[in-house]
Amino acid sequence: METVSLTINGKKIVTEKGKRVLWAALENGIFIPHLCAIEENPLPFGSCRLCFVEIEGKKEPVASCTEEVTDGMIVDTRTESVLRLVRMAFKLIMSRHPIICRECPANKKCALQDISREMGFKLKPKRLPQILPDLPVDDSHSLFTYNPNLCVLCGLCVYICNEIVKEAILDFNFRGFITKVGTFKNRPLAESKCNSCLKCVEACPVGALSRK
Ligand code: SF4
Ligand code: SF4
Ligand code: FES
Repeated sequence: METVSLTINGKKIVTEKGKRVLWAALENGIFIPHLCAIEENPLPFGSCRLCFVEIEGKKEPVASCTEEVTDGMIVDTRTESVLRLVRMAFKLIMSRHPIICRECPANKKCALQDISREMGFKLKPKRLPQILPDLPVDDSHSLFTYNPNLCVLCGLCVYICNEIVKEAILDFNFRGFITKVGTFKNRPLAESKCNSCLKCVEACPVGALSRK
């Protein structure tokens, strides 16, 4: 295996050539918030805007889920501009996310709670009104439920269903505020050809897809 050496927050790291900065940091105990990336996806969606870092020599912060490590790279995950961008991205996500942790199936294993704890961000956004979706829950499948009101539209379930399981059952339906994950023609999950592998449920970082 070809390796490269880099520094993240002052810590020297040796990692595999071609790895992206996000995974190199996480594997070495350095937390970078992220919702929409999985390592298997070589072309991450880059939609959550939470994984910004600064790299010496680059003018602007970059998304660590798309940036490959290079030899001698110097990365900082907590500069003022990174924190400003990440705080705003988190606020925007939480401005349309109901905070019902006690009754949520993801409570205590939720990526939003992890980000809040690790970054010191409040779950409830300050000085930004919450406008919450009120979309119907799909409870038709015998093994799992999809609650679009808790969905952060990270796209992980869609990627896994289409690119890993190769079933192409899930996709994004509708646009704007009512965008949700759904089946072809937005039919109930029980009426789709879902093979019940539950890999989408395992990948969901929040309480939107949950086992019964
Ligand atoms: S998804 Fe996470 S933050 Fe949202 S209600 Fe559930 S536990 Fe709380
Ligand atoms: S259901 Fe879960 S995995 Fe799928 S887009 Fe929503 S939050 Fe992401
Ligand atoms: S994890 Fe990089 S933009 Fe979402």
